[in-house]
Amino acid sequence: MHKVKTKSDALHAASYAARWVDHPVPKFRIPSEGMDPDAAYLLVHDELNLDGNPALNLASFVTSWAEPQAERLAAETLGKNMIDQDEYPQTEAIHERVVSMVGRLFHAPPEETPVGTATIGSSEAIMLAMLAHRTSWRNRRKAEGKPIDRPNLVIGADVHTCWEKFTRYFDVEARIAPMKPDDYTLSAADVEARVDENTIAVGGLLGTTFTGQIDDLADIDELLQRIRAERGWHVPFHIDAASGGFLAPFTRPELLWDFRLPSVRSINVSNHKFGLVPPGMGTVVFRDKSDLPDELVFHIDYLGGDMPNYSLNFSRPSSSVILQYYTFLRLGYRGYERIAQAMIDNAEALTDGLLRTGAFIALHDRESFPVVVVRAQDPDELDVFQLSDALRRRGWIIPAYPMPPDAQEVNVLRMVVKESFSRDMVDLLLDDITRELSNGNGRPRTDPHGDVARKIC
Ligand SMILES: Cc1ncc(COP(=O)(O)O)c(C=O)c1O
Repeated sequence: MHKVKTKSDALHAASYAARWVDHPVPKFRIPSEGMDPDAAYLLVHDELNLDGNPALNLASFVTSWAEPQAERLAAETLGKNMIDQDEYPQTEAIHERVVSMVGRLFHAPPEETPVGTATIGSSEAIMLAMLAHRTSWRNRRKAEGKPIDRPNLVIGADVHTCWEKFTRYFDVEARIAPMKPDDYTLSAADVEARVDENTIAVGGLLGTTFTGQIDDLADIDELLQRIRAERGWHVPFHIDAASGGFLAPFTRPELLWDFRLPSVRSINVSNHKFGLVPPGMGTVVFRDKSDLPDELVFHIDYLGGDMPNYSLNFSRPSSSVILQYYTFLRLGYRGYERIAQAMIDNAEALTDGLLRTGAFIALHDRESFPVVVVRAQDPDELDVFQLSDALRRRGWIIPAYPMPPDAQEVNVLRMVVKESFSRDMVDLLLDDITRELSNGNGRPRTDPHGDVARKIC
């Protein structure tokens, strides 16, 4: 949330734009007069120069580049609202194709009736999936005459914040399995210790936000099948494939993580990550339409025609769906495979280079994900927060953070190696890291008493 600056009269100090603007331009209220479009463009453009350079941003999983043809399609579809299905039927037809392409990539079973929708990202997709599972759980409990006041969700501490957001916003108990100092994923034993008849779903990760590792998905699936057979609890398994959904199918097609696992009832993916479209695009797919209770789907008729809608918001840009369609056609399966492999190879080169310095221990899954996560070999010699700050001065955006509870003693650096991050960039980054290390810029700061000041937040 941002503070509404009700009292500030601060003015823009325009640089080049000042050549065209002859009146003061306030920063926190709408100016009384407009200005020439070129001047407005320059003013905004100049302000954005203060942002980091997306090409050097290794913090984010999100795609920061599009081909000129994709940009052209984005500009052409700027004014089309995705919700207006009746007015833009071809956009809706493309939406349906994109959902099918994603569902089939995840082995949606043809003997059932899989359904899905594009969302604004994985957060909305996860909320929609969890709301569906909560409602299904409630309906089942009501039919059995059982109480419905204590729903819970079983997840690991390795989940993205959007999972906890769901539990707080929608009043569901979060049963979170903590991490261990040397184990950062969710196991079947973690789930077994927490699951019960009030569990609306279990969330498993194909690529955790923290280390890019994969939860023990096949074991958890087996556990949930056994629980169903022995105790009659129907606990749906949801796979959060935000980052892994467009990697594993290409890099490890034999890995069982998707609808091939019988307990998996829904999957989300962030198309704006390794689906290679710019921000604003996710997908949720349900194994069968019975996983999405009818009462959650709204039928809207006031825009013309009958428009079934399952979303948290209403209006949204259609360009992201169009761009995903473009990218699927443009790259094809082989194109995704080639790009995923190139990213993993570059991540490998970066990992090897970091390990050669002798200063780091690698924590990530080297086989599956182009995400490099390292901690200090000796935290008394290297403070990853200091190193992150030093690299920021060179323009690199590489976050340092403590792992979640109960592994919060472990501080890491995370580098997402995206398509834009070439082997050349790997070498440049390694040069900079080596230089900063030998200049002592990663050394822990000492407090006035000589103790090591660790930054654990
Ligand atoms: C595992 C995981 N789940 C969910 C999300 C949220 O995704 P989005 O930004 O698409 O809402 C992220 C974001 O990084 C993630 O890594």
